[in-house]
Amino acid sequence: MSDAVSRINWLTDELNRHNRLYHERNAPEITDLAYDALFRELEALEAENPGAVRADSPTRKVGSSPVAELKPFVHTVPMLSLQNGYRRAAGEEAEPSPDRWGGPYEDLFDWERGKPTRPGGLRRLLGGGAAAAIRYVVEPKLDGLAMELVYENGEFVSGGTRGDGVTGEEVTHNLRTITNLPRRLAGAPAGRVSVRGEVLFDLAGFERMNAEREARGEKRFENPRNSAAGTIRQLDPEMCRGRPLQFFAHSAGEHPDAPASHWELLAQFAAWGFTVSPLCRRCEGLEEAIEAIAAIEARRSDLPYEIDGAVIKVDDVALQEELGFVTRSPRWALAFKYPPPQVSTRLANVLFSVGRTGQVTPVAQVEPARVGGVTVRNASLHNEHQMQRVLGLRHGDRLIIQRAGDVIPEVVGAVEEPGREERPLITYPEACPECGHALVRSLSDEARPEMVQIRCPNTFGCPAQVEGALRHFASRLAMDIEGLGEKLVAQLVGAGLARRPSELYRLAERRAELVAMERLGETSARNLIEALERSKDRPLDRVLMALGIPTVGESTARDLARFFGSIEALMEASVERLDEVPNVALTTATAIHGFFADADNRAEVAALRAAGVRFVPPPATVGGPLAGKTFVLTGTLPSMGRDEMKARIEAAGGKVAGSVSKKTDYVVAGAEAGSKLEKAVELGVSILDEAGALAVISGEQS
Ligand code: IVH
Repeated sequence: MSDAVSRINWLTDELNRHNRLYHERNAPEITDLAYDALFRELEALEAENPGAVRADSPTRKVGSSPVAELKPFVHTVPMLSLQNGYRRAAGEEAEPSPDRWGGPYEDLFDWERGKPTRPGGLRRLLGGGAAAAIRYVVEPKLDGLAMELVYENGEFVSGGTRGDGVTGEEVTHNLRTITNLPRRLAGAPAGRVSVRGEVLFDLAGFERMNAEREARGEKRFENPRNSAAGTIRQLDPEMCRGRPLQFFAHSAGEHPDAPASHWELLAQFAAWGFTVSPLCRRCEGLEEAIEAIAAIEARRSDLPYEIDGAVIKVDDVALQEELGFVTRSPRWALAFKYPPPQVSTRLANVLFSVGRTGQVTPVAQVEPARVGGVTVRNASLHNEHQMQRVLGLRHGDRLIIQRAGDVIPEVVGAVEEPGREERPLITYPEACPECGHALVRSLSDEARPEMVQIRCPNTFGCPAQVEGALRHFASRLAMDIEGLGEKLVAQLVGAGLARRPSELYRLAERRAELVAMERLGETSARNLIEALERSKDRPLDRVLMALGIPTVGESTARDLARFFGSIEALMEASVERLDEVPNVALTTATAIHGFFADADNRAEVAALRAAGVRFVPPPATVGGPLAGKTFVLTGTLPSMGRDEMKARIEAAGGKVAGSVSKKTDYVVAGAEAGSKLEKAVELGVSILDEAGALAVISGEQS
């Protein structure tokens, strides 16, 4: 062990000891001044040896208490995204032809050289020196959470998530717990700089944390990316502390004195004390870059963190500036994605899980298998059609499973092996595995067999549905009842204290039973009752979302609330009237109507009202010039990307939909517009070009 590391260890232990003496025993042994000197020495050593920072370092302790809510964090330089390219898997590669490069790396050639028949890409944009090789930096594409850290005169002052690129959420209190995040930059650059990178879970630590959770009877986290996101958004930094998060630096935001090349920027980050991925390479030309990209992929499954591709960047900052941006992504960088990792494992069992709406879906339980660094135990079989027709799943099958980023792992195939045909096919149960009620299947649709649903109709008697509905009702985007999570819901249902959302509001009258419930106690009971009280003021759209009406998510709930203004008006609406709501399709209209035709559901709405839920109506439409108008965008616009046009329309109060229907007010068409334009002509919808659209947005024309 180096001197510095052993000194760090000694200082960590010593400072922790003094902390205990001071705070717990009220018997300090050294003066505050002496304590500060030791603390600063530790900080300085940690800045020079980021790998040696201990999780229990006193520099990682957050003096602050939990925050009440996450505050907005504004990025002074917008955080952009990257354009994507894909490495073609074997079998998916295109043959080279006059207008295709072919091969697994085709998208990279396209990016640098354009199409063979239509030269373009970086080389054309950069003009002149096309003969010379372009210098690149190749980096792993870390599958974490984008984060910006702000330093003032070398001190870490704040940090936040990417959000929409302009405003994210401030999570400084949690970032301070990350051990490899420098609190103070070595060499303390003057002024303000912001460093960007990814926060992610170390995989070994992730597995360890899951093992600990399991031992405590808690649910395992499904994947590292989502749990990193959940962890970093915690209000209480103590929840974050001790979880093995890391920060990897990969780009700069505000940096008034930036080096002239990306490679030097990465070197500067490392010198300041940041962790920079050791897989980053500087490459002369595309051939070398492709070698680096392939080399990173070859190491993918051994890495201590997850990656989903490589990022290739033009090294020279002057060239980057010359290339500029397309809408929200730099032209000088490309995220080159690898195909999702697959592995084969044995099927142990098929579990039929019952969702909150009663839908029964098959999940394959498999022998634990490592896929892309994570141990997978469950994989989705999607639906009856997929399980029985596409896969023809049989007991004991050897399966191919695949895991792509943060989507749930899925079964993509069953291996044909000798004797397989003799094993019995797996079929759907006749009765609900949760409550025993006979299952029903929605009418079969010959054209779309994957849409057939198998449901348990016992909505208010099936424990899976009862608990699911309560969990959904309490969730953050719905009624946001703090503290009412999965466990408490199960306890309440188990104790017979709540079967329907409206019964939650009667818990105040049953306080004694609540307090007596295992592990709850006086304080939590009071907090729960207060949280329930607060939730009575949620706006109508949130309550609609909370009711769990099939097909009604956040955005439909908002459209319905705006259109009808009250729950009563919505409940009385006919299918035809519902179909008139912007963005509501006939299938959704039918589902909503069916929901409110059910006497139980109507009674539940009345019970919520009686319990004090106010269904607060939305403010009268604060119409921008485009309020109530729906647009569809198609083709390439001459001066802006579709995202920008969409943002402008929405800022003026309009909506942008994905497809043209009789409800569309305008189609904005650019170059190479396709079938949407044809549809607009057919339906007689007004068609605008970019200039026309801008005139409508500004209110000059309608
Ligand atoms: S550079 C303007 N480098 O990928 C370009 N991004 O799809 C700034 N990401 O949100 C990003 N690894 O957070 C860059 N080595 C890497 C990266 C990386 C992962 C993330 C990034 C961004 C997303 C874009």
